[in-house]
Amino acid sequence: MGRERIAILDFGGQYTHLIANRIRRLGVYSEILLPTSSVEEVRDAKGIILSGGPSSVYSEDAPPYNPELLRMGKPILGICYGHQLIASFFGGEVVPGRWREYGIAKLKICKAIGIFKGLGPEEDVWMSHGDLVSRIPDGFELLGMTDGCPNAAIGDMRRSIFGVQFHPEVSHTPKGMEILSNFLDICGCKREWSMGAFLEEVSERIRREVGERNVLVFVSGGVDSTLTFFLLNKVLGKERVLGLYIDNGFMRKGETEGVRRFLIDHGLDNIKVIDASDLFLSAVEGVVDPQEKRRIIGDVFLSVRDMVLSDLSLDPDKWMLGQGTLYPDIIESGGSRHAAVIKTHHNRVERVKDLIEMGLVIEPLDQLYKDEVRELARLLGLPKDLIERHPFPGPGLATRVLCSYGEDMGDSGEKEGVLKIARDFGMNGDVLPIRSVGVQGDSRTYAKPAVIWGRRPDWEELELISTRITNEVHGVNRVLYLLIPDELPPLKPKKAFLTKDRLDILREADSLAMDVLRRHGLMGEIFQMPVVLLPLSSGGEGECIVLRPLESKDVMTARFARIPYRIVEEMAREVMKAGTFDAVFYDITNKPPATIEWE
Ligand code: XMP
Repeated sequence: MGRERIAILDFGGQYTHLIANRIRRLGVYSEILLPTSSVEEVRDAKGIILSGGPSSVYSEDAPPYNPELLRMGKPILGICYGHQLIASFFGGEVVPGRWREYGIAKLKICKAIGIFKGLGPEEDVWMSHGDLVSRIPDGFELLGMTDGCPNAAIGDMRRSIFGVQFHPEVSHTPKGMEILSNFLDICGCKREWSMGAFLEEVSERIRREVGERNVLVFVSGGVDSTLTFFLLNKVLGKERVLGLYIDNGFMRKGETEGVRRFLIDHGLDNIKVIDASDLFLSAVEGVVDPQEKRRIIGDVFLSVRDMVLSDLSLDPDKWMLGQGTLYPDIIESGGSRHAAVIKTHHNRVERVKDLIEMGLVIEPLDQLYKDEVRELARLLGLPKDLIERHPFPGPGLATRVLCSYGEDMGDSGEKEGVLKIARDFGMNGDVLPIRSVGVQGDSRTYAKPAVIWGRRPDWEELELISTRITNEVHGVNRVLYLLIPDELPPLKPKKAFLTKDRLDILREADSLAMDVLRRHGLMGEIFQMPVVLLPLSSGGEGECIVLRPLESKDVMTARFARIPYRIVEEMAREVMKAGTFDAVFYDITNKPPATIEWE
């Protein structure tokens, strides 16, 4: 291609694409390649980055790779799995970690050289790993360590080969961009790539992919789908585009009317609004498994599309499906060769994949992250209110109303592990008999939440306790802090499904909690705040509520939000008005190890 580029070998990490994105933001074109690529394919790259991945380097299912690529004499940076691969390839040793490390860790910088040039003696870094490098290969020196990982960063200055166990590409590693930028300097990159051309490229892509056809776009009123709708209208003209807003019954209070009005007020009036809530609700009746719920909801979206095309006598071969899919939706749904499925996003169910195979789907934003979508929306002059809206998932409140057959889950020693750590901090601890989804070491987990209570530590201490629990107690991927009442009541799972009554209760609780955020001017500071209903009860009517405010940039990593306690307490008191609740919790888990949504 002639332009300078970095080759990224994808070992199935959740963040591989994010590495590519960061490198491009630093002004260098980058391409994701299979680890089995030929030397020819990598020949003109200035450097090679080895991504993270869900496997162990010593396991049988480790992705195959071309070892010649590591002997080409190019600068190499290995990240997480890539770090372990470098260590084992060049003669060091990798073993399963004594304990696992997820989320924040303190990196002690042993030598501020090479990729660590200009860094301080200690830096915050984001970890997500089980295995670790136990012996450094000859020719390499130790550049950094954390408490849980003695050889967290290594480098061979002579050959310009580096490995880091943590993730410099995620926004929660504050000096990550400097580290990547140092690597680009080592590669001798001139940085001539600009993202300013993206809009032109995407317009051209829309024209090319759509050709003579038309597009029916799913529009939910969020920034991703609205921007997609806007772009398609702009490039193809309104007469070739039809927006479809589907009320699936899982929307927030007042959402449908608000979105309809907003779109019409902003001239996006080639939109059809359909109330399909009965269809969705009957399809998920009696379903408990989160993946099953997600699959069903994704399928019903497509059934509604088919119905609309048929009602309007539109030819399905001439009307492509437009979606506001972003890259994280794809990667979390298991969208690259070696990546694990964390959760199937509604826009990546089998029926959508079939349409993609048939060339009938257009997703102009599918290479972008949330922060970039907002940037693009700003560039196009979309209203601030829209750009700053909190993300809301396609399956909506359906993934926040947890369901249960009411069966007990037993205890495999998690309670004891949690209690021991809680007591170290002068607190009390327990484990809840329910499960939620997490992402640990690039793999999906479905495990129990711990809960702690007893005093009011500051947020930093709560983060420390939470991180210790999820790192050390197997079978726990999430930690809650009890807000109401003061002592955890005995809670048992109760038989409960996705019904309109439960949705209405959550809708009300969500609305009350959001009002508190809005009143205190915190909507802009908080990236997103799922409010979750748990089918746990101390008998009778009651259930439980979780507040999960977060800060994030691109949803790939997130940190639980540190809202002033008086406001948190106000929120807890307010949500209590929405129904009978036996407990209200605050989710104090970062991503990883927990995902943003519970399901
Ligand atoms: P997780 O829970 O995977 O969420 O950490 C990452 C971001 O994606 C949103 N999300 C979805 N968005 N369809 C969507 O359009 C989905 O099926 C879906 N599932 C999760 C979630 O709200 C968060 O912003």
